[in-house]
Amino acid sequence: MKLENNYKNILVEIYEKVVLIKLNRPDSLNALSKGLIQDLNHALDIIDNDSKYSVIVLTGVGKAFAAGADIKEMMSKSFQNVIEEDFIKPWEKISGITKPTIAAVNGYALGGGCELAMMCDLLIANENAKFGQPEINLGTFPGAGGTQRLPRAIGKAKAMDLILTARMMDVDEAEKLGLVSRKLSSDNFIELVLEIAKDISDKSLPVLKMAKAAVNGTYENCLSQGILFERKIFQSTFSLEDRKEGMQAFINKRKPNFRNK
Ligand code: CAA
Repeated sequence: MKLENNYKNILVEIYEKVVLIKLNRPDSLNALSKGLIQDLNHALDIIDNDSKYSVIVLTGVGKAFAAGADIKEMMSKSFQNVIEEDFIKPWEKISGITKPTIAAVNGYALGGGCELAMMCDLLIANENAKFGQPEINLGTFPGAGGTQRLPRAIGKAKAMDLILTARMMDVDEAEKLGLVSRKLSSDNFIELVLEIAKDISDKSLPVLKMAKAAVNGTYENCLSQGILFERKIFQSTFSLEDRKEGMQAFINKRKPNFRNK
């Protein structure tokens, strides 16, 4: 299937091997409606399966990355509905993408928006970024991995603070605590993020995928399982020409010429 820009709830831009996806419901601060998640997942499937693309950048149109689940859509759901539908399940798609993913957080990343950003590999934020899990104010709590990923990212004490009080944290606090990979200027934010994505896309794609899987192996399982998983994938990089080329280039003091970018 070809990647086209005819979605209702997202915009897609292609920069060589980098695909920029913009969540595009600015009137509701990119609230994560069913339609938006369907569009996003459709594009993600195509990108992950097409060797033309290596890196995915996710951002939001307007003053938010995403202000969470669409509360207006969620409002009337009963307990039976949510058990039967498991409407959060499709949100997890991005966490299973094999290629590198970057959340470029502009403005609000709240509730499911913060959870979606945490599902990405890198979380790069602009100076206006604000993070929070305010679900407690709605009489519920984070249901898209926030109670698991946030404590792992910033520690239990701070995660409890955010989840139990619903307060927002600014980008400086989020960077200090380790939630944010890098803070960048708001002026040319997307251009700067695209430069980072381009730099990643110049590396060997199979090795990027392996490195990502190895990090997630430790992150998503217990440490001993993760170490074992890492060792197996590390060993398998020795079956790649790109590994040989990378080491040879270092010894020859030249740039590597990876075949599988
Ligand atoms: N769902 C649906 N609509 C939303 C929304 C959301 N999560 N967040 C904002 N909007 C809508 C507002 O209703 C408003 O629409 P109208 O113009 O039709 O009134 C529009 O977006 C603009 O929002 P505000 O007027 O509220 O903008 P603001 O600048 O005054 O405030 C804000 C910004 C602080 C982010 C505020 O909009 C807000 O608190 N939003 C809700 C954040 C939230 O609670 N997120 C958690 C959702 S639950 C969740 O995500 C569950 C989960 O874990 C899976």
